Amino acid sequence: MTTHDPAIPSTTESGAPRESDAHSLSVGPDGPLMLHDVALVQKLARFDRERVPERSPHAKGSGAFGEFVLTQDVSAYTKADFLQPGRRTRTLMRFSTVAGELGSPDTWRDVRGFAMRFYTQEGNFDLVGNNTPVFFVRDPMKFADFIHSQKRLPDSGLRSNNMQWDFWTLSPESAHQVSYLMGDRGLPKTWRNMNGYSSHTYMWINAAGERFWVKYHVHTDQGVENITNAEAAKLAGDDADFHRRDLFDAIERGDYPSWTVSVQIMPYAEAKTYRFNPFDLTKVWSKKDYPLHEVGRITLNENPTNHFAQIEQAAFSPSNMVPGTGVSPDKMLLARVFSYPDAQRNRVGTNYNQLPVNAPVVPTNSYDKEGQMQYDHSGAAPVYAPNSYGRAYQDEQGPVENGWESDGELIRSAYTLHAEDDDFGQAHTLVREVFSEEQRERLVETVVGALAGVMEPVLSRVFQYWKNIDQQVGEAIEASYRAAN
Ligand code: HEM
Repeated sequence: MTTHDPAIPSTTESGAPRESDAHSLSVGPDGPLMLHDVALVQKLARFDRERVPERSPHAKGSGAFGEFVLTQDVSAYTKADFLQPGRRTRTLMRFSTVAGELGSPDTWRDVRGFAMRFYTQEGNFDLVGNNTPVFFVRDPMKFADFIHSQKRLPDSGLRSNNMQWDFWTLSPESAHQVSYLMGDRGLPKTWRNMNGYSSHTYMWINAAGERFWVKYHVHTDQGVENITNAEAAKLAGDDADFHRRDLFDAIERGDYPSWTVSVQIMPYAEAKTYRFNPFDLTKVWSKKDYPLHEVGRITLNENPTNHFAQIEQAAFSPSNMVPGTGVSPDKMLLARVFSYPDAQRNRVGTNYNQLPVNAPVVPTNSYDKEGQMQYDHSGAAPVYAPNSYGRAYQDEQGPVENGWESDGELIRSAYTLHAEDDDFGQAHTLVREVFSEEQRERLVETVVGALAGVMEPVLSRVFQYWKNIDQQVGEAIEASYRAAN
């Protein structure tokens, strides 16, 4: 970490003593300013460049550092070094809202981002999840459209319920996630009081080369707590940074939040015949079919010392994997593996992985070179591989250990359907079997509140969408809306 000694007199960026931090150079006290006032020109030029682009989704958030401690032996399922008995690994977590911009209120109803980094001895391992176990779409071709529909109208620059419901009702695979979002989880009390999920299915590989499909569940040890629409609206006005402040203050007073990390484990071969497509991001796996296995505990115990350097410039990515782990055929996940590093090369800069918050704790040795702001480099070592001068050259061939077999024509289509796959079944189970009567009542109230400004033909589609999820809830939404409008 680089910090500056406050006792050293202030300097220009090239290290020369500054004559003044308070007064610019002018021709006489009331005269024009001088272009060669290096201190003033540098100060303004740097100020003009202080902002990097905000994250395209998940712009508003914050986080902290901590430690992941393995509590159970999962070595039968993965050989990942940081998941072996006795390991303790430094971590970074960042929580966020999805749709809002950098200054937007923490308590607007939204899915919350739940990003975790593990600085392992085999390189960085990132799990970039949400506080819900499913997602709105199952094909990456729709992701940008989804985010556009959540952000702002092109003409007025306003957010629009009509646009959101238009997209959702024309994309019925969103039903499961929209049910979570309109339910109590759409308004967590604090980040400390919410669970996180990988949502996607990932792969684990053990030392014998056996493969397993896994879903990560990260349960809060503080207990899940949510707030009401009225409380959230008040907080959005009183303290837009309520969640950011809550986490920072808790860690500052030594009240360290923790989460228990578990996985559902599916033997490799069972994916083909499971009743739901296990790679469809709009679906969960029943815990009766695949119970949770505890893995370890994450505790956040260290606040950032500089929000911009350590949180804003943090670059989490599902592409950060380590041996013993891998991705799955989930199309959304495969697209994310490309999209995050691409966004970060643009947002933070080509060499973003060289910043302390992103650099792994182990040395790197890569033939990627140069670009803006290169700091680490290979000195005079050969810049190409293979070479005759002793710099590493790797060339493993054959099937990769974290791969899967695949065959078929090139097509554009949704997944192969499994026995119980449909868009509304799991949403119905959530609303009818998981939610209590009071939670369903709050759901109806929330949906009706979120219909302000929604016009035909979208409005009728919304009523039908909810009836497809649950006939009674759909009817209650329609009746309540009609009574009030
Ligand atoms: C942030 C793309 C789906 C969770 C981002 C960013 C991009 C992106 C470009 C900004 C990255 C940065 O600038 O650092 C996509 C694409 C998706 C997708 C293309 C689907 C095809 C998802 C899903 C989840 C998720 C399914 C959760 C399961 C997050 C989180 C962040 C994020 C938590 C913020 C990470 C942080 O705290 O820095 N996404 N995303 N995204 N995304 Fe996604």
